[in-house]
Amino acid sequence: MCDGTACHVRGSSAVIDAIRERLHLTSKKITTDDMMYTFETVSCLGACGLAPVLVVDDEVYGQVKPEQALAIIDKIDAEEKGNA
Ligand code: FES
Repeated sequence: MCDGTACHVRGSSAVIDAIRERLHLTSKKITTDDMMYTFETVSCLGACGLAPVLVVDDEVYGQVKPEQALAIIDKIDAEEKGNA
């Protein structure tokens, strides 16, 4: 997740908090115990016009809201369960 100036001003903190809470991660603990997720913040993704920006694997999401980030995680979890 980008936490650069443009993204920060447009609400990246709320998204970051929601993702960390959902995955039981912190700024120090960035990988889940099951190694499924690693979550990091960066200073700019060069897509400030889309702020706040979240990248999941190679997919870029713009103007991300906390609920949307959680929905993306739900989707990944569902897909992984389907593959298990
Ligand atoms: S500050 Fe987030 S993309 Fe530039």
